[in-house]
Amino acid sequence: MAERLDLEFVASVDKLETGVALVVDTDRSWLQRLQSPRLGPVFVDFSSADMLYRRKSGHNEPLGRAMGVKGSSRPVVFDATAGLGRDAFVLADLGCFVTLSEQSAPLSYLLEQARELALLSFNEKVSEAASRMQVLYGDSRQHRAEGFDVIYIDPMFPERGKTAAVKKDLATVQALHADNAEANDPEGLLSWALDQPVERIVIKRPVKAPGLTSAKPSHCISGKTVRFDVIVKPKGSDA
Ligand SMILES: C[S@@+](CC[C@H](N)C(=O)[O-])C[C@H]1O[C@@H](n2cnc3c(N)ncnc32)[C@H](O)[C@@H]1O
Repeated sequence: MAERLDLEFVASVDKLETGVALVVDTDRSWLQRLQSPRLGPVFVDFSSADMLYRRKSGHNEPLGRAMGVKGSSRPVVFDATAGLGRDAFVLADLGCFVTLSEQSAPLSYLLEQARELALLSFNEKVSEAASRMQVLYGDSRQHRAEGFDVIYIDPMFPERGKTAAVKKDLATVQALHADNAEANDPEGLLSWALDQPVERIVIKRPVKAPGLTSAKPSHCISGKTVRFDVIVKPKGSDA
């Protein structure tokens, strides 16, 4: 597995002191932040209580509305920053077909494993949502987003001390990229997205943060802590 994912193999995490480990057990795998054991483990599990809560509560409404979920309309979404797949799963649960593109090998491995497990779920809503998902490994900017209605970008927010909007699990995702500044290039992602043949680009921002560019979005949809900036492209304006 380490060879396939191009990761260093260690038989015991005691041998490691810093960084994040992908721990592979017989029946599940997870991320473990080594310096801060309290911040782990981080699982990707679409049947978890957290996901159930997100699906049942109204939290998802702004995300769906931002994508253009309305009446019988279910846009096909390219999630260019899949992360832990939470937003993607919510969208798939709303009925969208979602491609989860993720540049981190351990994360894309966990996402694919979670998708395959969710396909076997006894909960029909979970298995049906999983059947509308596919996982891609690599830099989203290498892809041409052909056949999609929307590109979704949820960049990593910079950590800001105690007021960080970064939750524990996302802090571990950030730690995965601690040595690779190029892994976080939201402006580059947006400029790639603007060149793609999609009608809409949706960017997640902390509710009070400035936009990713000085260009004004077509409209914004705000929740309690996050805001979705929506760029609707005029038809035929893509590259
Ligand atoms: C804040 S997380 C996304 C969280 C996600 N929306 C969720 O609900 O779990 C950002 C993720 O985007 C990924 N990412 C950033 N730039 C990328 C790129 N150019 N291509 C693919 N993935 C990228 C990072 O590796 C990270 O896992």
